Amino acid sequence: MLAKTAAVILAAGAGTRMKSTRPKVLFEILDRPLVHFPVLLAQRLGLMQTVVVVGHGRTAVEESVAAIAPDARFALQAEQRGTGHAVMAAESATTDAQSVLILSGDVPSLTDATVAAMVSARERTGAPMSMLTFEAPDPTGYGRVVVDEDGRVEQIVEHRDCTETQREITTVNAGVYLADRAALYGALARVGTANDQGEYYLTDVCAILAGDGAAPVAVDVAPDEVEGINDRAQLAELAERVRMARNTQLMRDGVTMLDPQRTWVGFDVALEPDVTLHSGATLRGTCSVGAGTVISEGCVLTDAVVGADALIKPYCVIAEARIGNKTAVGPFAHLRPGTVLGEKAKIGNFVETKKAIVGDGSKASHLTYLGDCELGRDVNIGAGTITCNYDGVGKHQTIIEDRVFVGSNTEIVAPARLGEESVVAAGTTVTADVPAYALVVSRVRQHVVEAWARRRGPVARKRRKDEEKT
Ligand code: UD1
Ligand code: CA
Repeated sequence: MLAKTAAVILAAGAGTRMKSTRPKVLFEILDRPLVHFPVLLAQRLGLMQTVVVVGHGRTAVEESVAAIAPDARFALQAEQRGTGHAVMAAESATTDAQSVLILSGDVPSLTDATVAAMVSARERTGAPMSMLTFEAPDPTGYGRVVVDEDGRVEQIVEHRDCTETQREITTVNAGVYLADRAALYGALARVGTANDQGEYYLTDVCAILAGDGAAPVAVDVAPDEVEGINDRAQLAELAERVRMARNTQLMRDGVTMLDPQRTWVGFDVALEPDVTLHSGATLRGTCSVGAGTVISEGCVLTDAVVGADALIKPYCVIAEARIGNKTAVGPFAHLRPGTVLGEKAKIGNFVETKKAIVGDGSKASHLTYLGDCELGRDVNIGAGTITCNYDGVGKHQTIIEDRVFVGSNTEIVAPARLGEESVVAAGTTVTADVPAYALVVSRVRQHVVEAWARRRGPVARKRRKDEEKT
């Protein structure tokens, strides 16, 4: 059934209770926007197409969906006149489909198995539509589902349209439907707006189908699975549960977490067994981390590829960088995009790198800026080295060949090449290429004035002053 099914994802609403300029469906759980969840579900189920009904913030929603589903279609619902109206907006985008799976852009936890149960409920009963219901301890706000003894849905009454007795019903509509397309749109054409909100309710389809002797079939589901997000407090609560479930799974898969409550691992992060994550480790985007690597307290990694047995010491910020096996970084290092560190390299505290290729065994241990540069193997960069890559107009490249020794407090004004095994004396400003094996020094020769401090130095001056007073 699902191969000929189109997903229709309702995502046009404003999400007023989020109190935001950002469309509700673009708020995130870990680093995944809410609307991606139903889109990914449709992809996993192998549905023939995905149609997202957009309205509020449509451009942003479309861009976000297109990033993971280039084939997704969008149906514009310019004015939000109800859930029925929203599904009608998707009619022309679903003409090839035999069935339609209606999902909400703000319901992220629905599982493949539950959709499969909706398929079998239809197959078993021959009903043109199956829909999810759950038992709500507090049904306030939900549509109440009137079900007969056989589990057939006679009608759904929205909370605000309920009679006193209907309000007592605790079986509620989860807002997820799997319907024969022809039956669905046939019934939708007959839906009116005679309700408290004057909207086209998708839920009215149920009574129409039941009246035709083809009542929908209800499938009961755990409330957790169909929980929607309406405000930021609910979002935080669900996000926390999802994050902890992911952390638990990662630990079962062999990752050590010293403080799982304060560890944040995005959905597209791949961690090998025996990775250790300390408190506050945050990994976003498409990171991967090799076996035996330790990510210490407070490190934030975005789109980083870290090899095996590496050590990332506390409080490093790393983005779009690659780190080789057995390399050590930090504490307090900032690796910016385009950084590629080889194996057994070392980047120490207060070192910033950008578009820096660092060869195997090379070290920059303290207080350094390496930008637009390429270092060979076993290079030593002394404390306080700066590649001066920017001249106010363009960026220039520094090349430092194998085994070069750069002394402390050195500037290298790019473009410059330091030849193999050359030595840069501490305090030098390099302004031109240095040949291999050479020493380069550019500083004032040391000048010593004997006994100067006894005659003119500050201590001598104070002593003289004191003598004058007595
Ligand atoms: C809907 C159901 C209710 C059910 C509840 C479950 C109707 C009439 N009621 O109520 O029975 O218990 O979901 O959460 O269907 N949307 C649009 N365009 C619109 C209106 C809504 O795209 O014109 C989208 C919203 O962005 C949202 C989804 O449809 O993603 C559900 O809409 P919402 O307003 O939250 O419906 P409820 O009133 O909660
Ligand atoms: Ca809702």
